[in-house]
Amino acid sequence: MKKIYLLILFLLAISIQADKLDGKKVFETYCWGCHHQTAMAFGPSFSEIASKRTKDEIQAYVISPKSMYKSFGYKRTVMTQLHLNDDELDAISNYVLKQKGK
Ligand code: HEC
Repeated sequence: MKKIYLLILFLLAISIQADKLDGKKVFETYCWGCHHQTAMAFGPSFSEIASKRTKDEIQAYVISPKSMYKSFGYKRTVMTQLHLNDDELDAISNYVLKQKGK
């Protein structure tokens, strides 16, 4: 019986871990102040970004707005340089793309 409880605890711990990499959480932590899902905020909405960029482009922009803004057609960049790890980058770019067509 004890083993089953341990197993349940273990699975619970895993699901909490997985939850941390939820794209929505990354969004709320790092992007929400300047981007909203569907409405224009300080920066363009995620649905607009999703309609014209690929996953690689989104990640490249988040990794380094300064080296990407010209090729994206901006005259200057005011987006903060963020330091996301690979898992966060993956989660946030999927989250941005999920807003496509909304
Ligand atoms: C300080 C405000 C700010 C924060 C924080 C911020 N952004 Fe931005 N972002 C902007 C602005 C303003 C632009 C428009 C171009 C520029 O200034 O770089 C932009 C542009 C972008 C673009 C390119 C838009 C295009 O034309 O395709 C992407 C992609 C992007 N942001 C994603 C994100 C993601 C994802 C996060 C969170 C991890 C984030 N940004 C956090 C302000 C911000």
